[in-house]
Amino acid sequence: MLILGIETSCDETAIALIEAKGGLKKPEFKIIKETVASQIETHRPWGGVVPTLAKREHTKNLPLLLRQILGDPKQKIDLLAVTIGPGLDPCLWSGIVFAKNIHKKYLPKAKLVGTNHLEGHLYSFLLEQQAAFPAIQLLVSGGHTVLVLMKSVKERKKLGETRDDAVGETFDKVARMLKLPYPGGPEIEKLAKKGNSGSINFPRPMNKSKNYDFSFSGLKTAALYYLKDNIKAKRQNMAASFQKAATDVLIYKTIRAAKEFKAKTIILSGGVAANKFLRRELSASSRKIKLKFLSAPIKYQTDNAVMIAIAAYVNHINGKKHKLASQPNLNL
Ligand code: KG4
Ligand code: ZN
Repeated sequence: MLILGIETSCDETAIALIEAKGGLKKPEFKIIKETVASQIETHRPWGGVVPTLAKREHTKNLPLLLRQILGDPKQKIDLLAVTIGPGLDPCLWSGIVFAKNIHKKYLPKAKLVGTNHLEGHLYSFLLEQQAAFPAIQLLVSGGHTVLVLMKSVKERKKLGETRDDAVGETFDKVARMLKLPYPGGPEIEKLAKKGNSGSINFPRPMNKSKNYDFSFSGLKTAALYYLKDNIKAKRQNMAASFQKAATDVLIYKTIRAAKEFKAKTIILSGGVAANKFLRRELSASSRKIKLKFLSAPIKYQTDNAVMIAIAAYVNHINGKKHKLASQPNLNL
């Protein structure tokens, strides 16, 4: 079936057209066309995403991107999927209103469905080879840090999540302390390559707790105090030591969950999964306990519409429906 995905939950406007087949047993996806318009330059002077500016950019970009993706807007499409949350409310609405308009005007035969942005990240691994189940998935983005047990593509259970800041948010905040430009995550990764990750012993919050929750606000505060007390601290050492502390906690809990639930695969997803240090370390730790490691290519970790179309396919096969209205706090 042909699926058109639309994503506008934060600062990327994205549309993708994919072909999906195989059901949940052997899902196969072919990306026909995809495009992402990044708003980094718009928000950079403000040091973070400004929701009203983001909405304005989405509204301006969506018709341009649609023209790039669908030569003929009246093409046959089976599913028209749009992100309904979680995300910034004005941004979500711009996508939903656009999807409703093109549905009415050009694609009345397509089924219009809402898609959970987190399910987009969660199912992005289906772009890769098949996972062996049960699997443990670590989903790390700007707004979420979640550990999920997947008994199959269909059946999942949330094992834990962050109790305060998400790990991506923490990368962004520490980057700001180091006077690095927005978005901070990739900048920390770049700077960390030049530093010594063992030079500062930052805390590994909740590493010893028995549950699968995370907490990153203590690590953020530790970084802030370290900078205050060590004005001449080498920024590259700060970046490397912070990145190491944050990834250590994520990996420790993921591996512990994999052992407890006898997982066969470890899956990594979300914007922070674009971090090569985390990918390398988690992949090495998975191999050490003889587990398969799966993660979609880096390009599909940060927000995109291919993952929205994939999640729509999974939900369509499952018969799962989301209300077509903005739900900024939608959960997994
Ligand atoms: O999934 P995503 O694009 O948007 C949300 O759903 O939140 O994730 C964005 C987050 C930001 O916090 C960004 O700094 C972080 O992912 N990020 C990274 C890297 N690339 C993006 N964090 C660390 N290293 C990276 N290379
Ligand atoms: Zn995201």
